[in-house]
Amino acid sequence: MDFKEQLRSQVDIVQTIGEYVKLKRTGASGRYVGLCPFHQEKTPSFSVNQDRQFFKCFGCGKGGDIFNFLMEIEAVTFFEALKMLAERNGIPLPRRSDHADAESKLRAALLEMHRIAAEMFQSALRSPQGAEARAYLEKRGVSQEMIETFGLGYAEPKGQALVRRLAQEPFSPEELEASRLIARRDDGSHYDFFRGRLMFPIHNESGKVIAFGGRALRDQDNPKYLNSPETPVYRKSSVLYNVHRAREAMRRSNRAILVEGYMDVIGVFAAGIKEVVAPCGTSFTPAQCRILHRLTDGHTVVVNFDPDNAGANAAEKAVQLLLDESLHVRVLALDGELDPDEFIKQRGAAAYVKSLEAAPTYFHWLADRARAKFDMRTSDGRVDAFKFLLPSVQKIGDKLERAAIANDLAGYLGVEQGMVLDQFKKAAAERRAPTPAAADPGPGIPALERMLIQALISSEAARIQTLPHLADEVIGNFAAREIFLALRNAHQSDPKATFSAIEARLSSSARDLLHHIASADESIDDVQAQEQARACLRRIESDFRKRRIDDLRARGKTAEREGRMEEALGIIAEIERLRRELGRAGT
Ligand code: GTP
Ligand code: MN
Repeated sequence: MDFKEQLRSQVDIVQTIGEYVKLKRTGASGRYVGLCPFHQEKTPSFSVNQDRQFFKCFGCGKGGDIFNFLMEIEAVTFFEALKMLAERNGIPLPRRSDHADAESKLRAALLEMHRIAAEMFQSALRSPQGAEARAYLEKRGVSQEMIETFGLGYAEPKGQALVRRLAQEPFSPEELEASRLIARRDDGSHYDFFRGRLMFPIHNESGKVIAFGGRALRDQDNPKYLNSPETPVYRKSSVLYNVHRAREAMRRSNRAILVEGYMDVIGVFAAGIKEVVAPCGTSFTPAQCRILHRLTDGHTVVVNFDPDNAGANAAEKAVQLLLDESLHVRVLALDGELDPDEFIKQRGAAAYVKSLEAAPTYFHWLADRARAKFDMRTSDGRVDAFKFLLPSVQKIGDKLERAAIANDLAGYLGVEQGMVLDQFKKAAAERRAPTPAAADPGPGIPALERMLIQALISSEAARIQTLPHLADEVIGNFAAREIFLALRNAHQSDPKATFSAIEARLSSSARDLLHHIASADESIDDVQAQEQARACLRRIESDFRKRRIDDLRARGKTAEREGRMEEALGIIAEIERLRRELGRAGT
């Protein structure tokens, strides 16, 4: 057994996936369901099969084993997933397998460089040359405890410290440059990318440093923030600042606070609200939205952006994305035109927590935006304001809640109830317009083949009885022939072949199909499986003979027409023989 198999047999897929997704046991033994972490949904279509150690989402079609799950959710390579799983379960890795491909080797080097850099920036902040940065933090009211919690640091201004430090390690020049922590001049010499800045390390979900944000210490320095460029370990669009520290609190509270800046995150965190995150200097993206959906278990996100116009526009966009992801959205607009960090400094943590708890649902905030945008003195203006709000209202999944909110809004904006109803009917009619059917994850696989596969993976006895009767010619005609061949080959090399041994022989599309079949049907016991396999085999053989008869008939006709009588007679005899066989088979 190779290490992958060994690891797979030692870890429990339900427990591992359970760290990311809240799973519920179902009636069928060893089956669990939950909300899919890979797409938005309100009712669970994500299922985990404990006996067969795989997961499958019937909504988005993603599926596979525990390694596929980790690769997808952590955005890592296979080897990294393997390593991660082994480490988390305290299973020692065989030597050399951790750096087994070039990409993961580079990523490991980049992570190590970021770890070293973060450490160096932190000690520079403590050293005499960090005095200006320490004074700045004090002025901004950042406590020593937060400095340590967030691993804040200082990049010295001359621009050689990190170059020298990393030169002591066995990194190649390509790796150094790929980290983007080191830049190269035209003459080939190197210098530090971050110089004379207050450093905010950015971590991935597992808590490894993958990038930095560097803030200027003086107002005249530009840009105010210099952020790491993208690298193989840093994809801005799917990273949230502070997510690894916020994870636990998000799960506990089923809530996330979304703010705009690093300083806001630190301020809110210091106020005792730990479930706070921010995008890293880019606009909020659907990928970040999905992270919040997963970590809050589809509950609530409070958007608390800066009060200026840019902040409000960004908040409006973020709200739409969050609604698209079916999250409950609240918007916190703080008094006194203050951003979260300033508010907490001026009014204190308790005042912030109070405003947070009282944060209205997004549509009240949107309604205020609408009232400011349109002329509410005219009835046209009021109707326009209502129409501006309608798309958001329609994203509310619950029908009753939707109607209640629409009425509420109509009242708030001074629009007639009749008009609300009209708009709703229109929108409902549009929704009923035909939409393309959801993709069938197992397109074109006849029920018969599905049933036979199900029987064969459920019972060794069924495999022993059935597989020898499946001729190459028969299998060759199957839509799911790849699965049947894998079943047969796995069975030939080991009659006790496990599900994963069968899987291992499949292409990824065939594997998806197998997962779909294996989890779609209710489980059957050994006796049922044998019976089902026999019934399927009878049908398949008779179908096969019928098809052959049709085929022979056509050939016989051609032979007759073309005067090849001997051949035509031979074909007729063959048809007769097949007919007799069909009769014996009882069909
Ligand atoms: P302070 O202004 O020090 O309170 O920090 P802040 O974190 O509140 O920053 P601000 O509200 O100005 O901006 C929000 C976020 O946008 C920051 O945390 C950065 O991620 C990003 N950002 C701000 N200014 C710049 C800039 O000049 N360049 C880039 N790339 N990003 C910026
Ligand atoms: Mn700010």
